[in-house]
Amino acid sequence: MADLTSDFPGEADRGPLDAVRIAYRRYAPVYDVLFGAVFDAGRRQTCRIVNGFRPARVLEVGVGTGLSLPLYGADTQVVGIDVSPEMLERARRRVALSGAVNVRLHELDAAATGFPSASFDVVVACYVLSVTPDPRRVLAEMRRLSSPGGAMVICNHTLGAGRRSHLPSWLMKPLARKLGWRPDFNLFDELQFAGIAIRECRKVGQFGMFTVLICTP
Ligand SMILES: C[S@@+](CC[C@H](N)C(=O)[O-])C[C@H]1O[C@@H](n2cnc3c(N)ncnc32)[C@H](O)[C@@H]1O
Repeated sequence: MADLTSDFPGEADRGPLDAVRIAYRRYAPVYDVLFGAVFDAGRRQTCRIVNGFRPARVLEVGVGTGLSLPLYGADTQVVGIDVSPEMLERARRRVALSGAVNVRLHELDAAATGFPSASFDVVVACYVLSVTPDPRRVLAEMRRLSSPGGAMVICNHTLGAGRRSHLPSWLMKPLARKLGWRPDFNLFDELQFAGIAIRECRKVGQFGMFTVLICTP
């Protein structure tokens, strides 16, 4: 994250979550252009899966600029949270422009939301767990917020189960560090640590670059 914050000398980095806020303050104006299309297949697949559950209440953590929001069913109450005010501001504009009345947005840390337990039928995380400082705490909170019989749907890049590294991720490391990504992120390890069971695994995007997991809370 350090590289992303280096051009903002006036902003004291008070911790890992501040580094995320500072990074996404920089990304926010260009996020949709840089990462809209690249991540689109994963978002669409994730929302298709979520809609298949016909959920009444969905929480999306790290909702960003809200690119996935138009993909949820109009009958579903969607709560989107993010730590970046600038990303959320864009999500708010998107919702206002669409006229959607089923979406609420809040500036909150996904690791400690304060929502009551089992508040949501489905909890979603798209491209968040590999950029958040403590993915295990976020996963624990996602599980706490999922209702019994509900689901967690997670989309991210990940190394294969049990792998620590592979050539493409090793080659991408210098660039990825600059962008605040972890190419050697292993979602399977994080889920195992959190004791969260995987119900289904799908590959999406070019060359199956991203993984969508349906998990049992
Ligand atoms: C790569 S963007 C993904 C945005 C969106 N989900 C998408 O599909 O485009 C990651 C987002 O996660 C947010 N984020 C990272 N850690 C977070 C946390 N602990 N709580 C809430 N949001 C977080 C960032 O601010 C950023 O908006």
